[in-house]
Amino acid sequence: MIDSSTPLPLFPVVAAALVDEEGRVLLQQRPGGKALAGLWEFPGGKLEPGETPEAALVRELHEELAITVAPDALEPAGFATEPLPGRHLLLLLYVIRSWSGTPVALEADGLTWCQPAGMGAWPMPPADGPLVRQLAAYLADN
Ligand code: C5P
Repeated sequence: MIDSSTPLPLFPVVAAALVDEEGRVLLQQRPGGKALAGLWEFPGGKLEPGETPEAALVRELHEELAITVAPDALEPAGFATEPLPGRHLLLLLYVIRSWSGTPVALEADGLTWCQPAGMGAWPMPPADGPLVRQLAAYLADN
């Protein structure tokens, strides 16, 4: 077990809950050969040096799904933390309800649209579980 007082460098990762007109949210399947292969996650990824979280998410969504998102379409909706070997994951979740283009799995093994209440059926990385609960609460209030 990792001592919570041990200082580990923060590892910021951004993630998107793309919400369609029916209230469904897009999950993508992590590809074989990568860490956490086969698990379903909110699309997104690591910040590049000097990048803001919002700019990183706009870039990642273009790279992973071929969609274009305006920075002002990002709604901060939750976060999760998770100790990883040698660093501490900080996963930031944004709700996005408008974008241009149709999401295509350019890097993932698959895409699925599902209701937040049904996400428990999709095996996800450990840090994404708390985000599902925060997302459901956020969408109920906003
Ligand atoms: O996608 P990528 O491999 O670049 O993400 C880096 C790390 O961030 C993953 O290995 C995983 O530990 C974490 N991550 C996560 N949930 C996500 C995206 C990334 O836990 N939705």
